[in-house]
Amino acid sequence: MNNTVTPPDQEPERQHYFIGKLKEWVDDFYSEFKRKPTAFVCTFGCQMNARDSEKLRGILLQAGYETAEGEEADLVVYNTCTVRENANLKVYGRLGVLNGYKKKNPNMKIALCGCMMQEEEVVSKIQKSYPFVDLIFGTHNLYKFAELLFIALNNNEMTVETWDDSTAIVEELPKKRKYSFKSGVNIMFGCNNFCSYCIVPYVRGREKSRYPIDIIREIEKLASDGVKEIMLLGQNVNSYGKTLDGQPTFAQLLYDINKIDGLERIRFMTSHPKDLSDELIYAMAECDKVCDHLHLPLQSGSSRLLQDMNRHYDKEKYLSLVDKIRNVMPDISLTTDIIVGYPGESEEDFLETMDVVKRVRYDSAFTFIYSKRTKTPAAEKPDQIPEAIVHDRFDRLLDTVQKIGREQTARFTGRIMNVLVEEENQKENGLVTGRLTNNFVVHLPGNKSDIGHTIPVKLDECKGFYYLGSRIDGN
Ligand code: SAH
Ligand code: SF4
Ligand code: F3S
Repeated sequence: MNNTVTPPDQEPERQHYFIGKLKEWVDDFYSEFKRKPTAFVCTFGCQMNARDSEKLRGILLQAGYETAEGEEADLVVYNTCTVRENANLKVYGRLGVLNGYKKKNPNMKIALCGCMMQEEEVVSKIQKSYPFVDLIFGTHNLYKFAELLFIALNNNEMTVETWDDSTAIVEELPKKRKYSFKSGVNIMFGCNNFCSYCIVPYVRGREKSRYPIDIIREIEKLASDGVKEIMLLGQNVNSYGKTLDGQPTFAQLLYDINKIDGLERIRFMTSHPKDLSDELIYAMAECDKVCDHLHLPLQSGSSRLLQDMNRHYDKEKYLSLVDKIRNVMPDISLTTDIIVGYPGESEEDFLETMDVVKRVRYDSAFTFIYSKRTKTPAAEKPDQIPEAIVHDRFDRLLDTVQKIGREQTARFTGRIMNVLVEEENQKENGLVTGRLTNNFVVHLPGNKSDIGHTIPVKLDECKGFYYLGSRIDGN
C-alpha cells in the first residue's frame, strides 16, 4: 500500500482514489493467482436496492473484478431488505451456505449491506453468530463501498460501518446497468411518512431529493447510451422536491424529462395516494413518454385502518382519486400493494379492502401478509391477528385479485400496441418477451437482435397475465 499519498477529503474524488487502490489490489491478486478476482452481488428487496446494486457492480467493475455467475466467488455482496421478516430469514439461511463456500476458498470475502444492516440488532446478531462475514455497511454510506472494501480486504477482523442517517447525496460514481435499454434513476432517497407498519423510514432515513439538474444530466447520459426506458425511483415520488430550494414538483420534473431526446418511456415508483396532485395527473396525460401505468398502493380499504396506518387518506378519497385518474386516462393500468392481517383488522375491515379491489379492478396487485417490524408503532399493538385468519383472508384476496387481473389484462385483445422487447423467451425458441407501456407482458416472434427495440405488435391472444402477439413490422 502506498501510504505517501493521503486520500482526498472530498467526494466523489475520495471514492475514485479508493477505486484506484482496489485496482492495485486486483493487479496483485492477478500476479499471485494468474486470474482476476470474481464478484457476485445479490439483491434482495425493491427497485431501490436493485439500483444500489448497480452502483456496487459499477465500482467493482472499474476496480477490475470479474462478474461471477453465482455465489462461489472471491467476493459476495448481499444487498439486503428488511421490509418483511421473511426477507431477513432468507439472508440468514443463505449465510450458512456462504460459510461453506468460504471454507473451500479461504480468500473469499463476504460483504453485507442494505436495509437490514441499518438495524442494530441485526448487526449484533451477525457479529455474534456469523463471524465469518468480512464487511457490513448500510444504506447511507453505500457510496463509500470502494473505501470500505479496501479496508476489509486489508483487515482480518470484521469491518463494520453503518450510519444513522446522512444528508449527503454523492453524484458521479460508476454504475453497471443490468439492462442496456432500461435503467432505474433515483430521484429521492428516504421516507418521512412513517406508515405505522413500515420499517423503511427507520432504515432509509429522512426524505431527500436530488436536484433536477443532476437527474436530467444522468438521464441524458443514459439516453445517449441507448437507454429507452427509465424508472424514476423514490419511496414517495409525489413529494419530490419538498426538501429542495424553489420546491420543484414531480410533475415539473416529468415535463423536463419528457423532452429528453432518445428516451421513449418514463416510469416511476412509488406514488403515495395522499400526495397525488391534479398537476401530476395532467402531466402524466400530457407527457407522451410517461407510461400508461400507475402503481397506487392501497394497503387497506378500511378507512378506520388507513387512519391507524397513518396513510392520510380514506376509502372514499382513494376511490375518487381512481375515478379522476381514469377520467383523464381511460386506458391506464392501475396496480397496487395490499396488506392483509394488520393488527386489529376485523372481517368488516377486510371486506372493505375486497370492496375496493372489486370496484377499482386492478390490473395486478402485490398482496402481503402483515409482518411485525421492530420499532414500528404497529408492532406494539395488542390485537395481532391469528395466523389462520390471516391466511384465510389472504387466500380469498388473492383469488379475487387474480380473477380480476386476468379479466383486466384481456381488455386490449386485438389491439395494436408497441412492445419494448426485453429478453429472449425463457421457455420457447424463436420468441422474445417485452412489455407494453402499461407494463403488460407480451410474447412475440423474434430473436436476440430485437432486444431493446420497440416493435408494433397485434395482441392476438390473452393468456391470463400475458399476451401472445404477432409483429406488424414485417419481420
Ligand atoms: N413506499 C412505498 C412502499 C414501499 S414498501 C409506498 O408507500 O407505497 C412496499 C410495500 O410493502 C408496501 O406498499 C406495503 O404494502 C408492504 N409492506 C411494508 N411494510 C410491511 C409490513 N410490515 N408487512 C407487510 N407488508 C409491508
Ligand atoms: Fe413505508 Fe409508508 Fe414510506 Fe412507503 S410511504 S416507504 S409504506 S413509510
Ligand atoms: Fe426492502 Fe429497503 Fe426496499 S427494506 S423494500 S430494500 S427500501
